[in-house]
Amino acid sequence: MTGTPSTQWQLAWETHLGPEDHEVVGGLLACSYAPTTTVFAPGHSWAGARPELRVLGWQRRELVAHAGVIRRFLRSPAGPLLVGDVGLVAVHPGHQGGGLGGALMAEVRRALTELAVPHGFLTCGPELRPFYERSGWVALTGTDLCSIGIDHRVEHDRRNGMVLPVLATMDSWPAGPLERNGQEI
Ligand SMILES: CC(C)(COP(=O)(O)OP(=O)(O)OC[C@H]1O[C@@H](n2cnc3c(N)ncnc32)[C@H](O)[C@@H]1OP(=O)(O)O)[C@@H](O)C(=O)NCCC(=O)NCCS
Repeated sequence: MTGTPSTQWQLAWETHLGPEDHEVVGGLLACSYAPTTTVFAPGHSWAGARPELRVLGWQRRELVAHAGVIRRFLRSPAGPLLVGDVGLVAVHPGHQGGGLGGALMAEVRRALTELAVPHGFLTCGPELRPFYERSGWVALTGTDLCSIGIDHRVEHDRRNGMVLPVLATMDSWPAGPLERNGQEI
């Protein structure tokens, strides 16, 4: 584990998580996403696609922050784009508004660097854009995005895509429509 004295950060691969871990992570996600329509089944720490890697933030043995990452290829007219797709970004409601979300996104960037992906990718509602922009993410506001939602339906442009330059620059991100032929995390 690494991190500040108050928050310990951990990376956990999906196959290293046991049922108790999914209970703990699912508990945090259920709390954090309670104001939204995203639902977590008991004992499940995912709602759509399962991540391959988790970024976990602990304070005094309490899980207070979480994000999930999976590597995948987006389809673009310029060819396949390898991205670290990010989702399930959450801070415990009792710890929100104090910068922990920003610290979590710094750890996500570190994880994406370790995974050696050119770019990070995520989708979010427009109200959350400023939160991610503060951590270096760039909104693809003029780009059509076709994705598969948590409810398994193919959806067009319901949420906007955002990109983080990791090993590549933003200049190398091609223009044109994107297809995420996979379910959002
Ligand atoms: C989004 C989230 C991770 C931010 O965590 P946090 O610890 O509050 O983040 P920080 O303290 O670093 O930053 C807070 C900033 O993000 C903004 N923000 C946080 N949640 C927001 C939301 N749902 N809508 C709009 N802005 C939001 C705050 O307004 C604040 O901005 P300010 O500093 O200008 O006031 C947390 O609010 C959360 O878990 N939300 C519920 C789950 C969720 O919606 N996840 C994102 C799915 S895409």
